[in-house]
Amino acid sequence: MPTRKAKRKRVRQTATARPPTPASNGAAKPWGGRFDAQTHELVEDYTSSVAEDGRLLPFDIMASVAHARMLGRQGIIMEPEAQRIVAGLHSVWEEFESGKRSLRPDLEDVHMNVEVRLAEKIGAVAGKLHTARSRNDQVATDFRLYVMDAAEETVSRLLELQSALLTLAETHRAVIIPGYTHLQRAQPVLLAHHLLAYVQMFRRDQGRIGLAAVEAANEMPLGSGALAGVPYPVDRASVADELGFLGISENSIDAVSDRDFVVDFIMGCALAMVHVSRLAEEIVLWSSGEFAFIRLPDAFATGSSIMPQKKNPDVAELARGRTGRVIGALTNILITLKGLPLAYNRDLQEDKRALFDAQDTLDETLEVLAAMLPRIEVDAARARKAATANYALATDYADYLVRKGVPFRSAHEAVGKLVREAEERGVADLRRLSLDDLRRFAPEFDEDARAIDLMSSLRSRDAPGGTAPRRVAAALRQERRRVEAQLGAVNRRYEE
Ligand code: ARG
Repeated sequence: MPTRKAKRKRVRQTATARPPTPASNGAAKPWGGRFDAQTHELVEDYTSSVAEDGRLLPFDIMASVAHARMLGRQGIIMEPEAQRIVAGLHSVWEEFESGKRSLRPDLEDVHMNVEVRLAEKIGAVAGKLHTARSRNDQVATDFRLYVMDAAEETVSRLLELQSALLTLAETHRAVIIPGYTHLQRAQPVLLAHHLLAYVQMFRRDQGRIGLAAVEAANEMPLGSGALAGVPYPVDRASVADELGFLGISENSIDAVSDRDFVVDFIMGCALAMVHVSRLAEEIVLWSSGEFAFIRLPDAFATGSSIMPQKKNPDVAELARGRTGRVIGALTNILITLKGLPLAYNRDLQEDKRALFDAQDTLDETLEVLAAMLPRIEVDAARARKAATANYALATDYADYLVRKGVPFRSAHEAVGKLVREAEERGVADLRRLSLDDLRRFAPEFDEDARAIDLMSSLRSRDAPGGTAPRRVAAALRQERRRVEAQLGAVNRRYEE
């Protein structure tokens, strides 16, 4: 093992081992014309985005193909030249895609890699591809295509998670749990109703990522050049059309510097993770000895290296923990953008690292949770007992009085006193009090007050959106239908 000191020495050596680079072929870089000296290796490492932006490769090729075709159509380059470029791009794609060749970090980024390899294959004509284009509008175009594609993948994972929540809810559709406010037992609800609350959250996330972020990304920057527009008769609309963009950007300066779509996407990821985290927190709580409403499947829990009896909810804990990372990515992109003058600045290269990390973290988390949820076991008896404890039916006694004509505030007051009396007498459940006891607090209590129980409580909350079993059953059916239809649509698009 290298000691800390040795490590530090090694680092220093690397930093100084290379001589200040002598003047030589700066021209090896596609932009090397005005440079005398080669880029220092440290600078090459520091500025290279090849480690990350390889993911843009298919979109870079796609956009270049569409651009080259348009250049040919418009007579900006000759048709045969355009054809050679397009054929060359296809073979560059095949080489990289099959793994025969990998991206060279010394070539700065994925765009340079494609261009340099294209030139190696088809010669000087490759240099015509970059006519009427800059890396600034190119990378913005590639990244928008990437984000629209990524959104589709994430949406399908959000749908899978909703499907898993629905499966868990459907399997345990009769289970009653205490609903909480302030983490105090409040009113009984169906477990399915509680789980459907998460389905709503993830449905909204689907909209933020699959609609809002995609809408923000759905404008093509290509044709904006470095920042000022391009001095060629380009046909931007036809390129946008070929690439599947809804339209073209309206202002060249905005087009090369706008990363709002990145913010929207990461924002969607961050909020989805916040929802995941709330669910994870409940899984942690509910699987604890204190609650013990659920048992985690062995395959999704871990043991302790010292305490043999333990079964830990690590997946939920890590999902909760990784939420911080995605919120961090959102902060990262917002801070990157806040100080930037128009138009392109190299800082913008950092947008990809933030987005990829947010996307990966969310996607992996959604996948593992979707696998785990349907396998969770539920202790219905334990949950039911908790649902009746702590006078959780008190509101139902007040609502009973209201139905007998008592104003709600007075009913609330009377039942409050009733609860205090029960507590003082050590009676844990209002149903164990006699009718005479009840009447001492409100004369409106009658024989039918005996019918107040968990089921009557649930059934009475029958207004739309409530926990009444028939409402919940209808909500389960409706959400199941929606999720299946949307998953079907996503899968059909994949197959296209
Ligand atoms: N790798 C760069 C990025 O991701 C591409 C654009 C570079 N443009 C430039 N003018 N250096 O932002």
